[in-house]
Amino acid sequence: MAPPFPLILLLLVAVAGAGADAAAPPNGHACASAEANSYAFCDASLPFPVRARALVSLLTLDEKIAQLSNTAAGVPRLGVPPYEWWSESLHGLADNGPGVNFSSGPVAAATIFPQVILSAAAFNRSLWRAVAEAVAVEARAMHNAGQAGLTYWAPNINVFRDPRWGRGQETPGEDPAMIAAYSVEYVKGFQGEYGDGREGRMMLSACCKHYIAYDLEKWGKFARYTFNAEVNAQDFEDTYEPPFKSCIQEGRASCLMCSYNQVNGVPACAHKDLLQKIRDEWGFKGYIVSDCDAVAIIHENQTYTSSDEDSVAIVLKAGMDVNCGSFLIRHTKSAIEKGKIQEEDINHALYNLFSVQLRLGLFEKTSENQWFTRLGPSNVCTKEHRELAAEAVRQGTVLLKNDNSFLPLKRSEVSHIAIIGAAANDAYIMGGDYTGVPCDPITFLKGMQAFVPQTTVAGGCKNVSCDSTDGFGEAIEVAKRADIVVVIAGLNLTQETEDLDRVTLLLPGKQQDLVNIIASVTKKPIVLVITGGGPVDVSFAKQDPRIASVLWIGYPGEVGGQVLPEILFGEYNPGE
Ligand SMILES: *[C@@H]1O[C@H](CO)[C@@H](O)[C@H](O)[C@H]1NC(C)=O
Ligand SMILES: *[C@@H]1O[C@H](CO)[C@@H](O)[C@H](O)[C@H]1NC(C)=O
Ligand SMILES: *[C@@H]1O[C@H](CO)[C@@H](O)[C@H](O)[C@H]1NC(C)=O
Ligand SMILES: *[C@@H]1O[C@H](CO)[C@@H](O)[C@H](O)[C@H]1NC(C)=O
Ligand SMILES: *[C@@H]1O[C@H](CO)[C@@H](O)[C@H](O)[C@H]1NC(C)=O
Repeated sequence: MAPPFPLILLLLVAVAGAGADAAAPPNGHACASAEANSYAFCDASLPFPVRARALVSLLTLDEKIAQLSNTAAGVPRLGVPPYEWWSESLHGLADNGPGVNFSSGPVAAATIFPQVILSAAAFNRSLWRAVAEAVAVEARAMHNAGQAGLTYWAPNINVFRDPRWGRGQETPGEDPAMIAAYSVEYVKGFQGEYGDGREGRMMLSACCKHYIAYDLEKWGKFARYTFNAEVNAQDFEDTYEPPFKSCIQEGRASCLMCSYNQVNGVPACAHKDLLQKIRDEWGFKGYIVSDCDAVAIIHENQTYTSSDEDSVAIVLKAGMDVNCGSFLIRHTKSAIEKGKIQEEDINHALYNLFSVQLRLGLFEKTSENQWFTRLGPSNVCTKEHRELAAEAVRQGTVLLKNDNSFLPLKRSEVSHIAIIGAAANDAYIMGGDYTGVPCDPITFLKGMQAFVPQTTVAGGCKNVSCDSTDGFGEAIEVAKRADIVVVIAGLNLTQETEDLDRVTLLLPGKQQDLVNIIASVTKKPIVLVITGGGPVDVSFAKQDPRIASVLWIGYPGEVGGQVLPEILFGEYNPGE
């Protein structure tokens, strides 16, 4: 479905096998005042659907319209506080959305687990569940501290079909069945087992995104905002749909995000058949949010509708409930005035939105005394979460080559080790995209120094793009003096991220030249460590005896630098 691309069998295919998507105190509770208590929507003895309808029935048209954005206004006369729907938690709390704020309270950092593509490569459902549960604990703790919302827009369960995709790193890979399994573990772990199921209480809300057939950012003349994915019925059923079906049916996710792209000529957020199927056939109970500004582009950039009011009408009638962005706030009133929609079309959306807020406990008179309502700053950045993050790196890292059992290294035989590469001492590279503020990041250099006091480092390249050979000389000198040399090569977000696809699968710039030059001057064969989320073609290393071992470590999160030497020195065997 993406621009044509010759399928090459790569050394790293097994690895691939595995939008930007405004702020209010997220922690306010409705129904706190004695006055509000007299309203039916505050009456905890009534079922959620009754309470949700009761609240909708009390609102004026303007109050209703003000709910149709991720930054929903409060309704002061009813004691309803404003709410920010947009928080992010892909592989730990992230401040890509306005719902999470690391500088507005006592929680200044959160555990950065490995980027999803690496944890996915562990092929271990219990690990995925444990990580989702840990992220949920930190999310709820941050919420309780007033620094985060209760509704999170993760996981990303699009299929990593095209190795150039800049956001493939966020997904569990290319296998629909595996992504489906990952989605179930993530959502169940994150939303929590609590209350009575599909329409019952939740600890947090997770979101299956982006529905559907989205796996392109910006490539040549194609962009995700206008791309039309042409998908036949078989590919739809075999490839694109299974993750979403499992995420909703089995995982019981309470949110679905519709994507920017069109599907067979219809914008995903306006695709009535696809959106209704979720509710009618898969039993979805929750809210449908657009990707950010995905409604604004329907008229302006896709010219699919002939006016902004028509765009409002088509998405609300298709079943979308809330828009990330301000488009619906700006254009819904005039859509009503022009007769494009009725107030009833909005009531539906509000019912779905309030139902989710009710299930999350935002309308309880008193803060419920659940284990997770007592979580606080001491439950974030814990030793346990750090160890779990390390475990995910160990289990996910892939040993691609190990000539003559070169690894593991013996500590007694390595008194001086060199690490070469632009990413060797870069804490930022460790997380990949949708990364928040790490608790205590350990770079590869720092981690190695803990094992081998005499660890020396050279970038070789100024940055991952590696446009020039200026740093090669220094790197060669450093490499020559060491017993063992580890070269860190690969990608970071300057190569692959939101709005940025790759145009080559090879190592960026002159990185391959750096690897070759270093390999030709060392006393012993080198160890090559590949970072990044998208697959990298390192076939040049496969046959080269000067490169003894190759490891893929993805974006390993904040403890990546701790785990790499554990693996190199055999404390953990990635080949097992
Ligand atoms: C985060 O909180 C700080 C301190 O309250 C505030 O200055 C800042 O604007 C907030 N950031 C966002 C994105 O809302
Ligand atoms: C899966 O991960 C869990 C949690 O880290 C671990 O206890 C278990 O041993 C792992 N299973 C396998 C087969 O590695
Ligand atoms: C949509 O079109 C407008 C007007 O041409 C342009 O300013 C904007 O950048 C476009 N947005 C996207 C996401 O392409
Ligand atoms: C990418 O890596 C370079 C160093 O090689 C660093 O300067 C830059 O900040 C990194 N950028 C991102 C987005 O990770
Ligand atoms: C990488 O370094 C080169 C200089 O070697 C510089 O021109 C380029 O802008 C840098 N790229 C990034 C993404 O920092």
